[in-house]
Amino acid sequence: MTYHAIAIDGPAASGKSTLAKTLAERLGLVMVNSGAMYRAVTWKILREEIDPSDTESVIRLLDEMDIQCGHVGSLSTIRINGTDPTPFLREPEINANVSTVSAIPQVRDRLVALQRDYLKRTHVVMEGRDIGSVVFPNTPFKIYIDADPSVRDGRRSGDGEIDSVSQRDAADRSRKTAPLVVADGATKLDTSALTISGVVDAAIGILGQQGFPLPKQAPLLPNEEPPTPMRWIYWLGWMSFGAAYRTLFGLRIIGDENLIKAGPVLIASNHQSFLDPPLIGNLYKTEMVYFARKSLFTGIGKWLYPQWNAIPIDQEKPDTSSMKAAIRHLKEGWRVLIFPEGQRTLDGEICEAAPGIGMIAAKAGVPIQPVRIFGADKALPRGSGKISMARITVKVGPPILLSPEEFKAYSNKEGYLALTERIMTAIKAL
Ligand code: CDP
Repeated sequence: MTYHAIAIDGPAASGKSTLAKTLAERLGLVMVNSGAMYRAVTWKILREEIDPSDTESVIRLLDEMDIQCGHVGSLSTIRINGTDPTPFLREPEINANVSTVSAIPQVRDRLVALQRDYLKRTHVVMEGRDIGSVVFPNTPFKIYIDADPSVRDGRRSGDGEIDSVSQRDAADRSRKTAPLVVADGATKLDTSALTISGVVDAAIGILGQQGFPLPKQAPLLPNEEPPTPMRWIYWLGWMSFGAAYRTLFGLRIIGDENLIKAGPVLIASNHQSFLDPPLIGNLYKTEMVYFARKSLFTGIGKWLYPQWNAIPIDQEKPDTSSMKAAIRHLKEGWRVLIFPEGQRTLDGEICEAAPGIGMIAAKAGVPIQPVRIFGADKALPRGSGKISMARITVKVGPPILLSPEEFKAYSNKEGYLALTERIMTAIKAL
């Protein structure tokens, strides 16, 4: 799977972090603050009372450092020898010494490798000085942001920080290894006269021009669930199933940070059990749309299933009306759950998918969220009415965001098949 990298570079206090954070939330990416990595190494050096200009000693200490980079939600995290230095990273001594440390090639090599590692696991928006030029030179998504020196100085002192922005900039621009430059292919954005939302809008415009797969139909909302209350009948099912999952099956969610919580999303999951739809529904705090086999819509089910936003589907033959209903709901902004395999698995393995999901995904033009369920087949196996106390795990994968070109390529029968295949591969990889 290839992940997208958005590179944001620029001088100190140009607004990189705020922009990167907002883009991460809106587009469902992980924001990596590469400056925090250089700051963290600087913190450790100062803590060990090593002079940052004593390059040999710095390199010796660097070799002993265990640097762990990860992410929680959409934000990057860092630990050095097990300690999270985040609270100390904006202290005056670090501001004063970070440029000296970051000019050491061995420090850069070590951190650039860790920065590139992120892209093996997730889509990222990474901000720094050399992201577009050195870390991800091949990414087409590059923005260089800048602002007048007086504006940038004012921003820092406005934050109450003691930081000589101009000195740091001069050092970062003039160093030999990976100096601050406008990377090849980067679009410049001057933020001096822009508000935060103005910067974000401009950046989204630039990314669109650079071909970034912005969700086609999706209004760009913060990645937070809107506070729409559930109707009581939906809430009742959601709450009872959720409580049961947690107590009986020790429900574990992995990859929650990948979850797109706002706007329309097509959720593609493997199918193991009757427990699956409310299991996915419990990932969110607002209502969503499901499909249920036609034969369930009898007796009380005829009333209850529509209350739970279930749309009937004919499993015996391709059901165009239910596919159209899925596309319509996605275009209206709903999140919709589809089980591409159609039927529940008999042996826990993932079965062959019907091409319907590829068509729905291509026509709806929304982000696709691959999800894999483990253990529900043991908790309530198909064909058995008996519940066992098996542990259920749900893994949420990074969203598949298609570019306008990809949507075009997937817009015929072969395309639907290829997209189905891509979605299934993403589920199986979880
Ligand atoms: O937030 P601010 O713009 O002040 O700085 P930062 O992004 O936290 O970066 C702090 C320092 O780390 C910079 O002044 C650079 O010396 C160094 N840095 C770097 O060399 N390369 C990067 N990709 C990011 C930061």
